[in-house]
Amino acid sequence: MSRLDSFIRRLEAQRACLDHVVGLIAGRDGPALEIGLGNGRTYDHLRARLGDRALYAFDRELKAHPDCVPPAEFLILGDFRDGFRLASVRIGRPAVLAHCDFGSGDRAATAALAAWLGPALKPLLAPGAIVLSDQALDGFRPLPLPAGVAEGRYFLYRHGDGG
Ligand SMILES: C[S@@+](CC[C@H](N)C(=O)[O-])C[C@H]1O[C@@H](n2cnc3c(N)ncnc32)[C@H](O)[C@@H]1O
Repeated sequence: MSRLDSFIRRLEAQRACLDHVVGLIAGRDGPALEIGLGNGRTYDHLRARLGDRALYAFDRELKAHPDCVPPAEFLILGDFRDGFRLASVRIGRPAVLAHCDFGSGDRAATAALAAWLGPALKPLLAPGAIVLSDQALDGFRPLPLPAGVAEGRYFLYRHGDGG
């Protein structure tokens, strides 16, 4: 498989997973979290599908496409470690969906961040919340991926016993 094929498959898998999780939280009240705003592509996709559900975006810096910049009250800038500390106060209610997209070319740094992020995310989540991640995370119950998405390409979980 060429690198182009692999890139396209990764994006198709990401889109299929995002569309799938929107269905999984239908009928549940609560905000959603986009952890890794980046260029804003997945934020924009979620925003279009979540209707009027609150969608909070986290990143260390704002580098999103101008059309994909969240309103100030939904943007939490700074290292995730600081952002998560602020978030429970800022957001005020537990999230029913977290999409985590934070991987970089630095494998060691990504692995260290993933090890921190799983436990750190839990206090922000409602029981039964859905967690979708580009990296494997510890401490959540794995859910099956949507049809056509290869195992290990993306990671889907449910938090706790609810839902
Ligand atoms: C893969 S990009 C996100 C891409 C984005 N979801 C999109 O579709 O455009 C990962 C983002 O995570 C952010 N990030 C990585 N580690 C971080 C950390 N420790 N604190 C805050 N942001 C971080 C980076 O700045 C980067 O913008």
